[in-house]
Order: sequence, then C-alpha cells, then structure tokens
Amino acid sequence: MKQLARYRGRRVFVTGHTGFKGSWLCEMLLLAGAEVHGYALNPPTKPSLFRQLKLAQRMSTHTIGDIRDRAKLATAIKIASPDFIFHLAAQPLVRESYRHPVETFDINTMGTIHLMEVLRTISHDRKAFGPEDHHVCSTVCITTDKCYENDDSGKAFKESDPLGGSDPYSASKGACEIAIASYRRSFFANPNSPVRIASARAGNVIGGGDWAKDRIVPDAMRAFLSGNELVVRNRHSTRPWQHVLEPLTGYLLLGLALQDDASYAEAFNFGPDANTVRTVNDLVKQLKTSFPNARVLDKTEPNAPQEAKLLTLDSSKAYLRLGWMPQWGFSKTVRRTAEWYKTVAGGQSARSVTDAQINEFLK
Ligand SMILES: NC(=O)c1ccc[n+]([C@@H]2O[C@H](COP(=O)([O-])OP(=O)(O)OC[C@H]3O[C@@H](n4cnc5c(N)ncnc54)[C@H](O)[C@@H]3O)[C@@H](O)[C@H]2O)c1
Repeated sequence: MKQLARYRGRRVFVTGHTGFKGSWLCEMLLLAGAEVHGYALNPPTKPSLFRQLKLAQRMSTHTIGDIRDRAKLATAIKIASPDFIFHLAAQPLVRESYRHPVETFDINTMGTIHLMEVLRTISHDRKAFGPEDHHVCSTVCITTDKCYENDDSGKAFKESDPLGGSDPYSASKGACEIAIASYRRSFFANPNSPVRIASARAGNVIGGGDWAKDRIVPDAMRAFLSGNELVVRNRHSTRPWQHVLEPLTGYLLLGLALQDDASYAEAFNFGPDANTVRTVNDLVKQLKTSFPNARVLDKTEPNAPQEAKLLTLDSSKAYLRLGWMPQWGFSKTVRRTAEWYKTVAGGQSARSVTDAQINEFLK
C-alpha cells in the first residue's frame, strides 16, 4: 500500500500506544519511517506486545499518563507537535464496564473530551502544531461498532444510523461519537482550522501479541503453547474474526485523507469481510491446523439460549471514499495469528515476525 509511505518523517501522536492495537499501529508507523510519540498508562497485560516489540526504546517520546490528566496530555501533545493523532486510549472491555461503569464513562467519554479540549485550546496557537502556516493535525478517534443502537434486526449499520449502546462500554463509545461531532461542529468547522477530527468504528479484532484474559484467541494460544487443554464453552457462537491490520490500515488511510481534505472529518466504518464471520468451532479448528497436537474440551451447554443477532457494519463509505477494503480471508487471518504466537514462542523476535506480517499485508 504505497500511500502509507506518506507517513515517512511525519510526527504522529498515539494515545493507548501500550495496548494491543496501539502497539501494532506504532509498529506500522515506525516501519513507514514516521516519528512516533505515545501517551498511555502502562501496558494492560503481562506479557504485552508493547514490551515484546521494545517500543519504549524505539519511539521518539513515550509518556505514561492518564488521558484525563489534561495538563500532562497538553504538554505531551505540544512536545510532539503532531501532524496526526490516533486516539485509542480506553477501557475497552464490555465485561469490565459492568463492574466499573463510572470509570468506563470517565476514561472513554471524558477522556476523549479532554483530548478534544486540549486540541481546541492549543489550536488558537497556530505554532502548536508545527511551524507551517497551513499545518493540519489529522485526528482519528477510535470508537467501536458497538456505538450503534442495536435493534437486533441483523441489518448492516451505516454511519448515519442512530447511535446508542446498552452496556456501559458501548454507551460510553456512543457518547464519544456525539461529543466528537459536537466539538467538530462547534470548534473545528472553519475550513482553516488546523484540527480535523474523524471517528473510526470497527469491531473485535484478532492478531499476534494479544495477551488479554477471557478472549478465545489468547486463551487458545496460552493453552496450546503450554500443552494444556483449551476449554470451549460457546462452540456455536458466531463472531467476525478480523485481523488487527485491517482496521489499522483504514485508520492510517483516513488520517492521510484528512490531511488533504477537510470533508473527511466524519465517521467511517471499517467492518470485517463477511467471509470472516464464523463460529468459535471454526476458529478453533483453524487454529488447530497450526497446533495439530492441541487438546480441546468442549463444554458447550446443549440448551444454551440463542444469542442476539450479530451486529454488522456497512463499510461501503470507507471503500468508496478511501479505497479501503478487507484484505485477508478467514483462514489467512487465523493462520497468521497462530503463526505469530508459535514463531515467537519458538525464539524468533516478536519484532521480526510482526514486521514480516505487516509487510506481507501491505503488499
Ligand atoms: N481490541 C478490539 O477488538 C477492539 C474492538 C473495537 C474497538 N476497540 C477500541 O480500540 C482501542 C484500543 O483497544 P485495545 O484492544 O488495543 O485495548 P488495550 O486494552 O489493549 O489497550 C488500551 C490502551 O489504553 C490505555 N489506557 C487505558 N486507560 C487509560 C487512561 N485512563 N489513560 C490513558 N491511557 C489509558 C492503556 O494503557 C492501553 O495503552 C480502544 O479504544 C477500544 O475501545 C478495540
């Protein structure tokens, strides 16, 4: 993908850079030759892809800070003087949001508002984003496919569909979308504004280096690599299994489009290919092709209630306006994910495996 070469030498500020998606994004940017700055809390898992890739040593600045600490965030952004901001810092787990709803809204919704408030404040000082008069700071805020009001109709959601979200995580991200649209209209609508803000909506992703708890791929990899049995409780559940590189490429294309044209300051869906929507059973079978001796114990309830209809995205806008579309089908997505864990466990450096997969994907 030749366009991404445009990141060479550009200054990029990533919030949530110590997380799973943030680490893949920073690696893509470093490979493209960008100057990458990060702002987040410490890595949320042990091990973490962030540490495996040794990103702290390779990024231009790496600030450990809370997204709600507006003064610290403002200082970090001023030091980076970014051409691009990708905002990924969040409490990203639905289950956790039931346990800690206030904190989830605070980090996700108020955190995004704090970022926009920093941008509003410093955008009055045109030099804040670099020396050029016509400097543009493309800002892409990452929300989720769950930000839509899911009426269970099974239809694919378009960007113009009503926002909502029942659980606190989904609602906190729907609220982010409303706040982003408000800041955009209220403070960044002037075509000469140095700040252009878009939002990006994608669903669950998989890929090497995810070490989160209670997720099927990391659980399977931990079990298979240690010779333990993987217990499966929901064999028939259907999910999209999109590779993390798919939406990240969309975010990067959106950032570039924003630099060129203020009309891209809108919401964009980056949904999975229909081919990657499969059952947990299909996923486990496909993972096992890379681990033929792996053992799986099926504990699926025979009379489990039917699940709600899967939420799907209509990504035709991203295709028509950005030329983005999913690249890898189901088996390649799962194979590359399993290979990542197996090769790294076999002693190859996480960086070389990650870089090889990024290069293969971008071809
Ligand atoms: N992983 C997915 O499948 C998925 C799907 C849809 C949307 N998303 C969104 O993508 C983004 C990244 O998700 P992820 O899976 O990489 O999550 P992750 O948990 O791996 O990373 C979260 C990042 O946010 C940072 N963070 C958390 N609280 C913070 C705070 N108070 N202040 C500063 N930083 C804080 C963490 O330090 C970490 O860097 C999130 O916004 C998430 O909602 C993820």
